[in-house]
Amino acid sequence: MVAIIVHGGAGTIRKEERIPKVIEGVREAVLAGWGELKRGSALDAVEEAVKALEDNPLFNAGTGSVLTLDGRVEMDAAIMRGKTLEAGAVAGIWGVKNPISVARKVMEKTDHVLLIGDGAVKFARLLGFPEYDPVTEERLRQWEELRKKLLEKGETRYWKKLNELIREYPELLRSTVGAVAFDGDEVVAGTSTGGVFLKVFGRVGDTPIIGGGTYANEVAGASCTGLGEVAIKLALAKSATDFVRLGMDAQGASDAAISLATRYFGKDTMGIIMVDSKGNIGLAKNTRHMSHAFMREGMKEPEAGV
Ligand code: GLY
Repeated sequence: MVAIIVHGGAGTIRKEERIPKVIEGVREAVLAGWGELKRGSALDAVEEAVKALEDNPLFNAGTGSVLTLDGRVEMDAAIMRGKTLEAGAVAGIWGVKNPISVARKVMEKTDHVLLIGDGAVKFARLLGFPEYDPVTEERLRQWEELRKKLLEKGETRYWKKLNELIREYPELLRSTVGAVAFDGDEVVAGTSTGGVFLKVFGRVGDTPIIGGGTYANEVAGASCTGLGEVAIKLALAKSATDFVRLGMDAQGASDAAISLATRYFGKDTMGIIMVDSKGNIGLAKNTRHMSHAFMREGMKEPEAGV
């Protein structure tokens, strides 16, 4: 039973008129992944689906990534194969179009799991990824507005205060994209993000932390979205696959993972998507929205929503 699910981030979509466009974006991404899945590879399916989301400026990954406190783009991405536990990730990378593809190259061409900052950019250039500017006009404008609000409130120094500010201005939490697929043989998970608006330079979220925001093993795969610090502290993607190992299906495990996040850190913090090695799909969130789309064998059209 092959299956794929994608998410375009958990949070609140404030402008209702954006919702149909966001749904169209996740539909297109899942179809891009589905095409590869039908050719037999969950790895290619996850990379293609995440690339489609990275290339869509509506989502906070690749083109359209949010900006740090000092107005830069620092992107994170990871990909992991469930059968072999091979994994590759980049953190704080800039100047590339598709961080997920650089993460895949880290997995395939190095002995390492995670490359960061300058080193990740240098590696990308070495492998032929051309220079690319992912900053969009809309993100620049939003950065200016949000930074002004933050400065007016005098809350620039502590993450705890930024966390409170996120509750007041949910648009700060423009979250992450991801995909998880099962090709009948292996589960693969991938995640990509620009992080959280106004994050402190150098901050790395859960996305490239294997077990935090991205994880896959022989029983399931998971991709998280939301406030990265929550997923890191709970090792949420790995915990979710442990729930499958203990007997839950992908939906039960997704629900359990989000209950855990809510119990420790409250609502409006996390979302997760999963696929298990029986081809079951799971999705859960404690935020108002989490755009998503999925396809399983036997379905003619993707199911998509927020
Ligand atoms: N979940 C994305 C981040 O916190 O960076």
